[in-house]
Amino acid sequence: MPGSENSTAAWQQIIKVEFLLPGMQEKTMNNKEKEPKTILKNGTEEDQTIDTILRPTSWDDYIGQKNIKRNLKIIIDAAISRGEVSDHLLFYGQAGLGKTTLAKLVAKEMRSSMKITSGPAIEKMGDLAAILSNLESGDILFIDEAHRLNRMVEEVLYPAMESRKLHIIIGKGAGARTISLDIPPFTLVAATTRADLLSEPLRSRFGATFRLDYYNESDIEAIIKRSASILGIEASPEAVKVLAKASRFTPRVANRLLKRTRDYMEVYKEPKVSEKIALKTLEILEIDAIGLEAHDRLILSTIIDKFGGGPVGVNTIAASINEDRGIVENVYEPYLLRLGLIRRTTGGRLVEPLAYTHLGKKPKDRLL
Ligand code: ADE
Repeated sequence: MPGSENSTAAWQQIIKVEFLLPGMQEKTMNNKEKEPKTILKNGTEEDQTIDTILRPTSWDDYIGQKNIKRNLKIIIDAAISRGEVSDHLLFYGQAGLGKTTLAKLVAKEMRSSMKITSGPAIEKMGDLAAILSNLESGDILFIDEAHRLNRMVEEVLYPAMESRKLHIIIGKGAGARTISLDIPPFTLVAATTRADLLSEPLRSRFGATFRLDYYNESDIEAIIKRSASILGIEASPEAVKVLAKASRFTPRVANRLLKRTRDYMEVYKEPKVSEKIALKTLEILEIDAIGLEAHDRLILSTIIDKFGGGPVGVNTIAASINEDRGIVENVYEPYLLRLGLIRRTTGGRLVEPLAYTHLGKKPKDRLL
């Protein structure tokens, strides 16, 4: 129940927007999110259709994240045997690691239908109130990029998550009164790349929270083999290894690389994906053997060439390469850290000896 006068004013919007429901929902579903500008993260429409085909639709098809799968299965089986909906679930981790895929698997296992929206698409409290009041019993509501929900909207979520209530204020000023509507049992599945930006009251209302980590190389190889077989492509074991090493331990990237390799194969009339074709595709995309793109290499060479290898603050790095601090910190750095190419210190970012070797530069003598 919203307590402050501010939230009272905002609640009054709910009544107005309920009449806008059909168009509003369409907008909710179609709103595209701003994506970082790297080659592999922006797919074509064809890519998106193929991505849907490649998406695993059963637990057996879903490779990797074993511990998460095991825990989810228990939660789901227990909910089904009690005849209840599952607790609300939160998935967080880097883009492309399979948060949406997991949400869809949960819906399938629960035999529920899933309504999909995203944090930035829900602009007003009324948008969310309309979505919640249209849920059917057992539905899964999937909110992607949940860290971009605004605080007023979050306030509508709390009572909905906790006691399946939607509080609506009717009227204005002194005559205003609150009515509470019951919402049918539902499960909120939220996904975010930035769990640190979720408010504590929201985070604490999930019954289970799962952090999706980077995949290991053999899981990525298995994903590439599975995708190649679905797409009817023959790929040599050496080619699979080359693509896996360049996939940033991320299934979405692995599948994109495979698709680009398929393009190359078709254009140059090659019968199958050989190691040579895989290497050629990476070369054209300017992706190196360990999956670094131009921007990753720019970050490393900037720290080395302009700042003597560091330590240097992330703001300074971002300004030097004309990029958002947030993008440097949350999109590029996690993979560089995972590979051990950089280190975060209290004084700033420090390039590790491995990065010098990889870029063919001479390590400077360092005290650290
Ligand atoms: N495609 C994307 N993610 C996958 C996964 N985890 N397992 C199998 N195929 C996938």
